[in-house]
Amino acid sequence: MRRVYALGGLHESDLAGDPIAQFRRWFDDAVAAGLPEPNAMVLATSSRDGVPAARTVLLKGCDERGFAFYTNLGSAKARDVRDNPRAALVFPWHPLERQVRVTGAVVSLDPDEAAGYFASRPRESQLGAWASEQSAVIAGREALEEQFAAAEQRWPGGTPVPLPDFWGGYRVVPATVEFWQGRENRLHDRLRYRRDGARWLVERLAP
Ligand SMILES: Cc1cc2nc3c(=O)[nH]c(=O)nc-3n(C[C@H](O)[C@H](O)[C@H](O)COP(=O)(O)O)c2cc1C
Repeated sequence: MRRVYALGGLHESDLAGDPIAQFRRWFDDAVAAGLPEPNAMVLATSSRDGVPAARTVLLKGCDERGFAFYTNLGSAKARDVRDNPRAALVFPWHPLERQVRVTGAVVSLDPDEAAGYFASRPRESQLGAWASEQSAVIAGREALEEQFAAAEQRWPGGTPVPLPDFWGGYRVVPATVEFWQGRENRLHDRLRYRRDGARWLVERLAP
């Protein structure tokens, strides 16, 4: 399970002027390479007491404002974010011998933005959101399926499924974005953008 990383290198002169443009380049590479779920990212949060937690969520928007995802606002991650509005993200693009790490503050998405995204989801996903009190302990699978059936009855057939008031999105506003490219002899390239007022500094980190 030891691998030689030799697919490529990352030089300061390769980088885009800002981390979002650079992220887009690498994201496009991940899509073009056919990686499964290229928009899957590990989201790390921590509780008021400093207890860390990490889980995968899907990136559903990326622009100069940051990295957006959607979730249940009653979930454990949402509680963490309310208590400690900071997070870290990891995009583990192993087949490309790459990883991107983001740290920053977390802000709530505008409910209109969440409503727009919710409306674009498949009906079954919308009903599933209503059926699941995410992160709560439940009696069994049947309880979940009953909740789903109840949601189906509540909004039968072509009835639009409304946005639950316990569902929405967050954006991680990047303070740092690090691009890691595996290299030979464990001399990997790590270039990190760090926000400095209105501009971005780029620093190389030891691997
Ligand atoms: C590939 C993948 C994508 C996922 N995407 C999301 C997502 O976009 N939003 C979400 O709330 N949970 C998503 N999940 C489920 C989370 O990993 C997690 O189980 C759930 O959000 C509850 O986390 P919490 O209890 O820490 O709040 C995804 C899981 C996987 C494996």
